[in-house]
Amino acid sequence: IGPEVVAAAVVVLRAVGKRFGLDFDLREYPMGATGVAQHGDPFPEVTRSAVRQAHAVLLGAVGDPSLDNAPRHLKPETGLLALRAVLGVFANLRPVAIHPALLDCSPLRPEKLAGTDLLIVRELTGGLYYGEPRSNDGQSAVNTLRYSRTEIERVARVAFTTAQSRRRKLLSVDKANVLETSQLWRLVVTELGREFPDVALEHIYVDYAAMRLVSDPASIDVLLTENMFGDILSDEAAVLVGSLGLLPSASLGNGPGLYEPIHGSAPPLAGKDVANPIGAIASAAMLLRHSLGQPEAARAIEGAIARALAEGARTREIARSGETVLGTRAMTERIVAAI
Ligand code: IPM
Ligand code: MN
Repeated sequence: IGPEVVAAAVVVLRAVGKRFGLDFDLREYPMGATGVAQHGDPFPEVTRSAVRQAHAVLLGAVGDPSLDNAPRHLKPETGLLALRAVLGVFANLRPVAIHPALLDCSPLRPEKLAGTDLLIVRELTGGLYYGEPRSNDGQSAVNTLRYSRTEIERVARVAFTTAQSRRRKLLSVDKANVLETSQLWRLVVTELGREFPDVALEHIYVDYAAMRLVSDPASIDVLLTENMFGDILSDEAAVLVGSLGLLPSASLGNGPGLYEPIHGSAPPLAGKDVANPIGAIASAAMLLRHSLGQPEAARAIEGAIARALAEGARTREIARSGETVLGTRAMTERIVAAI
C-alpha cells in the first residue's frame, strides 16, 4: 500500500500548498520491492543520491512477502534501514493522540483512553538493528546490541527538548535490570536530565512500560526508548487509537527528515483502494512542520483530518457496522475538502 498512501499524501500536500501559496518540487524514486524490481536494489543508487539532496523524504511503506526469504541485501527492510542510516535520522518521533471521534475504535475502554496524548521518541539508527557482528549459519545466529554515550545523548536531547514544549514529563524506557546497554542508557539520560530541571524524568523497565501503555496511557507525555523497544511499543500504542493506519512518524537527524506512517506495506490490502491514508497524510503534516518550517500548513492538515473523522469519514478498519466505508481515495478527498 506504500504507493497508494504516498499518492494520497501528495494530493493533500498539493491542496494545502494551494491554500497557503506553497509550491513543492516533488520527485518520486523507487524503494523497497520497486527498487529491487527496477534496479536489483531495495535502496537503489538513484534514490540514494536523490534523498541526500532533498529537504525531506516522504516514504509509504516497504515489505513484500515474495522477498521474505531473499538474501538480506535484497530485502526491502534492509533498504529502509540503509535509508535511515544514510540520512542519519537518529530520532524517530511517533505521536499517539486519541481522536475524540474514534474513542470507541479501540478495544480499550473509553474512560482509560480519555486524555491520551503521548509521543514516542524511538532511537532509530543504532541498537540491534545495526549492531555488528551479525550472522546466521542455520545452527546459531548472532545479533549485537551496542549503544554509545553519543548515540544515547543525542536522541535523549531531542526527547527532553520536545518534552519542554509539551507537558514536561519524560519517561525513559530500558531493561537496566538485565542489560548493560540499558544501564548506560539510564546513566546518560539521568546525567543529561540535569540540563533540563524543568522536565520530570522517570525511568521504567520495558516490560512495565508495555503494561503502563495500555493501563494508564494518559499518564504518559514523552516516552524515550531504544530502537527495538520503540518498534514494539509503538505498535502496541497504535491499539490506543484504534488503528495502525492512523499513526504518522517523523525521523530527524541533522540533514533531511524522513516521514513515514508507522504501518507496514500490508500486501493483502495493496492496490484495492482500501488502505487508510491518514498515517501517510499526517506524516506529510509532520514534514511541513519539522523540515519545511510550515507549522500553519501542518496544522491545517491535522485539523482537516480531525474534521473529516468528526464528520464520520471512516475507512474500512475503523468503521462500525452500518457506517459508510470510504476507500483510500474517497477518504483523501474528504480531507482535501476539509482543507
Ligand atoms: C517500523 C517498521 C520497520 C522497523 C521495519 C519495516 C523494518 O516496523 O518502522 O516500525 O522495524 O523499524
Ligand atoms: Mn514497526
